Amino acid sequence: MSKSKQTLIGHYFEGTNATWYEGWELSDEEREVFRQRSKASHSAKLKALNGEGPQPLHPINVPKLNPEELMPQLPNNGLRALSLFSGGGGLDLGFDRAGFTHSASFEILRDAACTLKMNRPEWRIYTDEEGNVRNVDWHSFRGEVDVIHGGPPCQPFSMAGRQKGEEDERNLFPEFIRAVQGIKPLGFVAENVKALGSRKFQEYVQNEILEPLQKDYNVTVFQLSADSFGVPQQRQRLFFVGTDKKRVKKQFLPPDPTHSSEHLRLKQKQENQQMSLFDLEVQNESILRCMGVREALGLSDIGFDAIAPTLRSGLTGPRHTTSILSSTAALKIWDKMQVWPNGVGASRENANKFVTKNGHFRLSVQDCAILQGFPSTWSFHGAVYMILGQIGNSVAPPMAYRVAEALAKTLI
Ligand SMILES: C[S@@+](CC[C@H](N)C(=O)[O-])C[C@H]1O[C@@H](n2cnc3c(N)ncnc32)[C@H](O)[C@@H]1O
Repeated sequence: MSKSKQTLIGHYFEGTNATWYEGWELSDEEREVFRQRSKASHSAKLKALNGEGPQPLHPINVPKLNPEELMPQLPNNGLRALSLFSGGGGLDLGFDRAGFTHSASFEILRDAACTLKMNRPEWRIYTDEEGNVRNVDWHSFRGEVDVIHGGPPCQPFSMAGRQKGEEDERNLFPEFIRAVQGIKPLGFVAENVKALGSRKFQEYVQNEILEPLQKDYNVTVFQLSADSFGVPQQRQRLFFVGTDKKRVKKQFLPPDPTHSSEHLRLKQKQENQQMSLFDLEVQNESILRCMGVREALGLSDIGFDAIAPTLRSGLTGPRHTTSILSSTAALKIWDKMQVWPNGVGASRENANKFVTKNGHFRLSVQDCAILQGFPSTWSFHGAVYMILGQIGNSVAPPMAYRVAEALAKTLI
């Protein structure tokens, strides 16, 4: 494939033949229940958007959290980054803000590629079959890339999936390794769900990921939490960072937390009156306070706030959903926050007009983006479920930024 050729077709994405996508098997009856439910909700929504529903209960929110402040733009560091499995650009944006020059992005899903192109028209973005990492001869990138980053699809390892690991044909870790071996960059960052670090996949990680990479790279494996970087969400990711054994003399050190959401947990404990003196840890004053959902989104103070439960990816499951709900335990937290995690609106105005039955605040895609650490300057392309998929699949950009910054310090 010619590297100078840009493949991005602007028209709307209608379907996917991406092998990692798997709709769930449903019986006809189950499918009918979903169909009826979504028909009823669709017609209620249309009425509300026409002004025929109940009057809005809340003013349109003005978020307080600006994720750009969590990742101040760093000057160009002279390092060139190649992005694999780019999705809606969580890692790409983090590397960009940390001062890396973008080399190219490879992403099979056209909507996600459109998101990247819309935000950074000057970037070289490959999609469809040319964006399929399985088809690329990486040798032609040798000498043109300093760092490769990517999060291979997590479904093979995710607790939300069937955890078939390497037997899952969607496991594309071998493709990431093939790119590293073909290009031989100075360093790399691979990320995935926390479950990949569990005992179940220990042997796979050791034999199939670490062993081939450790021949030429010092590899550091570590886990990070999004709220440690000011992102108001429970979200933990596993990182593999490698630096070339021969060319890089400094040792990579994972980033230190900049924020903590401990104060929210302490407050909740206090309210539950289960707090003992031992729970009153001395706060490290250099660590900033991570906002809760209500504060981050600029909602009124109801005496309770928390970081968001993990936002689910909208691209897997029984149907294309506009819900970000990941579990029944999560529903309790959303409920206490008086935030409704289903039927996410396409805009703040739409969400405001479509009043929820229980009166709780309806989220918009823009709010979900903030809860994942995307600034309002980053737009997403596609239908609501597709945008939620891009958001829910991404590395929170402020977390990606700190990893990128730490890697740059090691390489320069
Ligand atoms: C976990 S997401 C990556 C998210 C991204 N790292 C971010 O931070 O936003 C994995 C992405 O891999 C893409 N993908 C799956 N198979 C692919 C393939 N064969 N070639 C290129 N991209 C692929 C999916 O469409 C999905 O967007």
